[in-house]
Amino acid sequence: MGIFDYTPSISFQEYEPSIRLFDEEEELPIHIKHKRRGSDYSVRLGYKISPKRFWTQPYYYNPRRRGVEEGKVVLVVAGKGIGKTNTLRNFVQAHYRTTRDDSIVVFQEKRGDLDFLRHPSPERLVEMNVEPVRLRSNGKPVQRYLVPGRNFKIPLQELEYSALMAYIGKKMGQSIADRIIERAWRDVRSRRDIRRFRIKLNEILQNYEEDPYFRTMQASVERFCELLEYDSLIETERDNTFLDYIDREIINIIDLSDIGDYEIKQFIVSQVLTMMERHFKRTRSFIGITEAHTYCPEEGMNPAKQAIIRAVTVLARSYGWTVFLETQSPHSMEKVVIENVDEVFILGYIPDSKLNKLLKTLSVNLYDLVSFYYLADDIGKGEGIYGNVLEPTRPYIIKIGLSPVG
Ligand SMILES: Nc1ncnc2c1ncn2[C@@H]1O[C@H](COP(=O)(O)OP(=O)(O)OP(=O)(O)O)[C@@H](O)[C@H]1O
Ligand SMILES: [Mg+2]
Repeated sequence: MGIFDYTPSISFQEYEPSIRLFDEEEELPIHIKHKRRGSDYSVRLGYKISPKRFWTQPYYYNPRRRGVEEGKVVLVVAGKGIGKTNTLRNFVQAHYRTTRDDSIVVFQEKRGDLDFLRHPSPERLVEMNVEPVRLRSNGKPVQRYLVPGRNFKIPLQELEYSALMAYIGKKMGQSIADRIIERAWRDVRSRRDIRRFRIKLNEILQNYEEDPYFRTMQASVERFCELLEYDSLIETERDNTFLDYIDREIINIIDLSDIGDYEIKQFIVSQVLTMMERHFKRTRSFIGITEAHTYCPEEGMNPAKQAIIRAVTVLARSYGWTVFLETQSPHSMEKVVIENVDEVFILGYIPDSKLNKLLKTLSVNLYDLVSFYYLADDIGKGEGIYGNVLEPTRPYIIKIGLSPVG
């Protein structure tokens, strides 16, 4: 018998006021099951029990309490099919329901994983003791898929030179025009679109007319511009910024499921994080990264890893961001990232070889509970161990509920 079979049978959203509540700003009574964005404060995502005192407490998620200056890094570790994505969905919809214009950006690795208009079947919800919820925004769709290369591109003026070189540099190779390109790149206003950028480049090129390699430089510069222009991930025609793609009122899902190449994914993840930092400084935001170990592996450096390290060490702390990371392979994840985790969920069973490094590195002591917990003969989906740096020596057993949306 599973440890959570003792859970009292209360409905999932039972803490909410009975039938109606008031929308703060409009003062209109709205029906509880059709809440608008930002009309409630915290959402119950599951239950937790302390192994020392055996009673069940609800586990709430409340983004408002994580104000600026105290954002959080959340790490979910679980084997295949145990409930990582379900946890992410729970967090996203809770964030969406309880805030008004926090920017929510999540990366989707598997098609259909994050669809917030899809609902589990009514039978399944009854079986899991979950009350259905409908996400609602004021006249807008709830979510938007951004497919890189199609309806999502990285604007020229937002690009980081170093990340661009890591990405496009291979096609181009070292060239004697690098200096010229870098100089032109520094002037952000001259790269609002490719036309202006070409003018700027030519302006600088003119200083080298006497150079014996002038023709080669010219050719390299031209080749660089062509590579930019033909790259479907980069917006070179229109004078766009990140804000032309991201809508702060809805859930922005960046769909990486069609991209097989890890370097391309890394480039996109790093650029999105950099753009978020540029535009959402000091505003609460939610960013969800799945398969986190592929972006911040233990060894080597890539632009995404740099960006994630910055997100967990600086952005989450200083700007009140929630950085949500999900992985099956905590053993191959960068240490600095694990060290900065505030909240950790270890769901289902994870073999020792994968757990050792994680347990040694986390700022929460989960050792004792882990060995005790694995004695349970039946660990269900979404069940596991939970630790929070606020209570570093008090780990919990947790059960995350089935996400009512998505
Ligand atoms: N907390 C939960 N309660 C009940 N069922 C759950 C729970 N979490 C997950 N499930 C069930 O398990 C299935 C797989 O869950 P989910 O997609 O979240 O796993 P995952 O860890 O992301 O898997 P993958 O490794 O394939 O990405 C879900 O479709 C759902 O039916
Ligand atoms: Mg998943």
